[in-house]
Amino acid sequence: MQFTLLIVDDDTSNLASLVRIFEKLSLCVLPATSGQEAIDTLRNHPVQVVLTDLMMPGMSGVELLKQVKKMQPNAEVIMMTAYGTIERAVEAMREGAYDFVTKPFRRAEIERIVRRALEKIELLTENQSLRAQLADARTQQNSTGIIGNSPALRRVLEVARQAAPSNATVLLMGESGTGKELFAREIHRQSLRSDGPFVAVNCGALPETIIEAELFGAKKGAYTGALQDREGRFARSHKGTIFLDEIGELSPHVQVKLLRVLQSGEYEPLGSTETVTTDCRVIAATNRDLAQAVRQGDFREDLYYRLNVIPITLPPLRARPDDVPLLADHFLRLYAQKNQKQINGLTHNALARLVDYSWPGNVRELENTLERAVVLAQHEQIDAFDLPDSISGESRSEEDVLNIPIGTPLDEIERRVIRETLRFTEGDKKRAAQLLGIATRTIYRKIDERP
Ligand SMILES: Nc1ncnc2c1ncn2[C@@H]1O[C@H](COP(=O)(O)OP(=O)(O)OP(=O)(O)O)[C@@H](O)[C@H]1O
Ligand SMILES: [Mg+2]
Repeated sequence: MQFTLLIVDDDTSNLASLVRIFEKLSLCVLPATSGQEAIDTLRNHPVQVVLTDLMMPGMSGVELLKQVKKMQPNAEVIMMTAYGTIERAVEAMREGAYDFVTKPFRRAEIERIVRRALEKIELLTENQSLRAQLADARTQQNSTGIIGNSPALRRVLEVARQAAPSNATVLLMGESGTGKELFAREIHRQSLRSDGPFVAVNCGALPETIIEAELFGAKKGAYTGALQDREGRFARSHKGTIFLDEIGELSPHVQVKLLRVLQSGEYEPLGSTETVTTDCRVIAATNRDLAQAVRQGDFREDLYYRLNVIPITLPPLRARPDDVPLLADHFLRLYAQKNQKQINGLTHNALARLVDYSWPGNVRELENTLERAVVLAQHEQIDAFDLPDSISGESRSEEDVLNIPIGTPLDEIERRVIRETLRFTEGDKKRAAQLLGIATRTIYRKIDERP
């Protein structure tokens, strides 16, 4: 972001030297020699910071401040005051000035104040764009229930959207907790069958006979314990969608029966010779590599091709860290509401830890982490301390610890911390900034400042 600084001073030599200072810092600098001239400039230029003299003939600095707040409420105003007019400067602070500096000032001093103002503005803008993204994600959530704005997630959402209205079989792949069931429900919701039932079956959880009876139904006495006729899930999902989870776990016998349903819509319930037809759409899911299962002879190749008509592979969460803040915010609200707790969000530090973590259990792990944090939270803001050690980084390895001798000057400490954090992130400045809880810009600047 290119920042614009408006400098107002009736003392033209002072004005000129200030312009020179800030132009060197690659800011866009607009000079004005009176309050009126400043206002004319403000009419045509968006400005982030106004640096103005307090005592000027005509319009005073405080009057100009009031005008700025009306015309560009997000701009910050810094007052320059001569010795002896401190009361006026304090008055200006009450009127909403960001800070003041007494003349004569050192160059470093004025630079630091302007920089801090710019950093504040930058943080606020970042916040605003994050909020806009959240609003976006929420609109998206209302229509899909699926949170995320990363390119990787948007790509799979788009495939799902295109696949939804057809009757084609969809095979959802991806690690545990990436949202396969959520996507299956969403595809059903966007399909022409959305008024029909959505029936989910976990094929991995049950022994073969039971799963066969569960899927296809059974006649009374077909197996031990079948005390009456049993309606199968295929029958129940007629005119709807059946979701076959952990499809890779099906026994060879049930694989054959399923293949036939996919080919002809026909099957026989357990213990029956009567052929039944069903009209249901199949969505299958697995976190196994089915192609490899086929090569190993664990899974029928013909069934694999029948299932694999529209493959959708959900990306793991570590491949889309941009989605972490959106998901975290979503789960925070969800569990705060469920637990009737007042939670105002995450600290910068906590969020940085979440973004940084590798999430082997994907979105489910993130969801569980935030539920736990909300339940245990003692404060209105969730801090890194409220997260499990593995995520908060409490138990870092020794190479990840900085050892700084007592007596090291602060600016040297700052440089070392930045340098070491950059080493830790392998030069990734954005991540380093997140870890340090500062704006990326600040990192660039601090590096440039290095001798
Ligand atoms: N993009 C997302 N937006 C919102 N919630 C999500 C998202 N992805 C996953 N979830 C939530 O995470 C949890 C796990 O998702 P889901 O059960 O769909 O994963 P899965 O891939 O089926 O996992 P498994 O392979 O372990 O069965 C659910 O509570 C789900 O609502
Ligand atoms: Mg699942």
